[in-house]
Amino acid sequence: MNVTEGKIMSRFIIDGMKKLNGEIKIQGAKNSALPIMAASILGEGQSIIENCPSLSDTESAGEILNSLGCRVTYENGIIMVDSSSINDFVIPDHLMRQMRSSVMFLGAILGKMNKAKISLPGGCEIGSRPIDIHLSALSKMGVKINDEYGFLTCECPNGLKGAEIILNFPSVGATENIMLAACLAKGTTTILNAAREPEIEDLQNFLISMGAKISGAGGNVIRIDGVNKMHRAHWTVIPDRIVAATYIIAVYATGGKGRFTNVNPSHLSSVLAFLSDAGCRLNWGANYIELKESMPPKALKNIRTMPYPGFPTDIQAPFMALMSIAEGSSIFIETIFDNRYKHIDELTRMGAKIKVESRVAVVEGVKRLTGAKVEATDLRGGAALIIAALCAQGQSEIEKTFHIDRGYDKIEYNLANLGANIKRMSNEE
Ligand code: UD1
Repeated sequence: MNVTEGKIMSRFIIDGMKKLNGEIKIQGAKNSALPIMAASILGEGQSIIENCPSLSDTESAGEILNSLGCRVTYENGIIMVDSSSINDFVIPDHLMRQMRSSVMFLGAILGKMNKAKISLPGGCEIGSRPIDIHLSALSKMGVKINDEYGFLTCECPNGLKGAEIILNFPSVGATENIMLAACLAKGTTTILNAAREPEIEDLQNFLISMGAKISGAGGNVIRIDGVNKMHRAHWTVIPDRIVAATYIIAVYATGGKGRFTNVNPSHLSSVLAFLSDAGCRLNWGANYIELKESMPPKALKNIRTMPYPGFPTDIQAPFMALMSIAEGSSIFIETIFDNRYKHIDELTRMGAKIKVESRVAVVEGVKRLTGAKVEATDLRGGAALIIAALCAQGQSEIEKTFHIDRGYDKIEYNLANLGANIKRMSNEE
């Protein structure tokens, strides 16, 4: 697969003020697919992963698996990973740089090969993202870590051993890395203050289907009893709650109506509560959400990002685009990442009135945003600009779409199907 080809140097042109209406099937979750792809290393034979979104991040994960010697194929949302031929433990620097979540492969490679070498994941567009929690947990499991010349060399010649690990913050990536490292370790690993995101439960269930012994994901204590061997598995990735929330917000911001299928509403409870408080009329069933004709959005006073099940940091930017046109002033408090407000300067170019002081942003709703030339600053910040452009008066041009392509599968087709006037232009055009 090469989903990024032709997309890297492109921009979106959006003519705003079109009400979106219709039905959309939500893609599989990127944040589940990536650790599950890493987990496939642990089994023997070919694992089949369905409902996998076609994204530059899943493509990068496929390249990492290939570089380790696995055979990866992708067709119509199904990724097949044959890990029987794995023969390397080094993730090349250029692949580490493509995707920060490549650090997720560390636990899985160590679990399988007892050694791993990766370059340090560099800075990130949403703030510093250290990996100290990952590394301190792995060293508790007996891994010797050498950090030299920008590379981390990790070794445990006698195999990993189970440990009790207390996280000082419920880091999603660290929880997943420990789970991956612990499946084939000797003895029992317990993670206290584990992250509780649905994607962690999905990873647990995939690992169980490969023969691992894990329980507790979804709660804050996870127990892993090491096993000697794991096998191939066939799995369907859960729906992407962040993508679902983004489309719901987009439709609501334009004053439209919609039905969103292949979603799990229970994964979205905090977002649905905030949307309802803003005036959005929603209905939901086991695997769908419906947005009915709604009231124009009202400002909300305390949008504080929190670890799951709190309000997701990944929805902060899209929700801010909505609050930019709400009646009254909203207050956002970003508690998870230290630099996740880069989209604000771009929203301001479109007429939004936002003031930031450290982790607090005050958004004074305006009647109408206006189209402008803007730049996606990161994945979810880029989605926020699309939402703003969809309801703005006039034409917007959004550059650096490669950020958006990391997490949204065929976003322009999906929005066009709902009635948006959006097209992707290559930067040569
Ligand atoms: C994952 C998600 C990302 C989401 C984030 C928070 C994936 C692929 N990405 O990212 O979309 O925004 O959870 O819900 O699943 N931290 C440390 N030291 C560490 C690890 C983390 O200080 O060793 C800090 C980070 O800098 C950040 C916070 O903890 O400020 C949250 O990070 P974490 O939960 O680890 O997020 P990711 O796994 O990177």
